[in-house]
Amino acid sequence: MIVDREPGHDALARAAELLRRAVRRRQPVAALTGAGISAESGVPTFRGSGGLWHGFRPEELATPAAFARDPQRVWEWYHWRRGLVLAAEPNPGHRALAVLEERLQDAFTLITQNVDGLHQRAGSRRVVELHGNLLEARCTRCGRVEPLAPEASGIPNCPACGAMQRPNVVWFGEPLPGAAWARARQAAATASVFLVIGTSAVVYPAAGLVEVAAAAGAGVIEINPEETPVSDLADSVLRQPAGEALPALLREAGIVPG
Ligand code: APR
Repeated sequence: MIVDREPGHDALARAAELLRRAVRRRQPVAALTGAGISAESGVPTFRGSGGLWHGFRPEELATPAAFARDPQRVWEWYHWRRGLVLAAEPNPGHRALAVLEERLQDAFTLITQNVDGLHQRAGSRRVVELHGNLLEARCTRCGRVEPLAPEASGIPNCPACGAMQRPNVVWFGEPLPGAAWARARQAAATASVFLVIGTSAVVYPAAGLVEVAAAAGAGVIEINPEETPVSDLADSVLRQPAGEALPALLREAGIVPG
């Protein structure tokens, strides 16, 4: 593993070489993103000081039991987070991944644990959302998914059947959406380069995708200012914010002009 703490060093050159080779040969590339990629847009991450889980226990807000106990409280938390996201803008890290998709087309798969929709707003079209989307609500009875109006508040009801809606996100203890998970696993198992960006890599099964990719022989590039449990699996580690590292990587790989 080569670790870069500043741009322009060995790890960046190594990562760029992996990416350049994959692009030249049109080999599949996949990326797994977490809350860290949206940090520079002002959306708080979950763990660490200042994180969303600091001072909150996830099981009080992000479990089916918490929702059954107090749907009003859970909805208030999601409305607050939705407000933060709607006021935020995609950053250069999100935009760099949209550029990579534009260049690689079907050979690129963007897998995200984020529920903020910022990848799509940056121009990514084929986003695999593993944990759902907080801009949507899902009916607790008929399962219909609806976009939430920006001004939505309180506990919304399904326009089709009138039952209570819930946030269309995956809570602790719930399975991931089957189709999204299948696409993500397939992309990880066949990638020649796997980027893991802005995730603490402690929440499974998503974090296991890095192991799948590494075991299948992908070149793994980690972008994260902090060490994580998957750092040891990486061929190249860029210890920088994603909004700096990703544009630098694309320039170094010759994907965008330097
Ligand atoms: N650029 C890149 N990485 C960053 C940046 C940045 N600017 N800022 C912070 N990070 C890193 C942190 O070092 C940390 O490793 O982003 C990571 C954020 O980790 P978490 O807060 O744990 O977020 P995530 O990995 O997405 O959490 C996984 O946990 O609570 C659940 O469902 C929720 O999808 C979420 C899942």
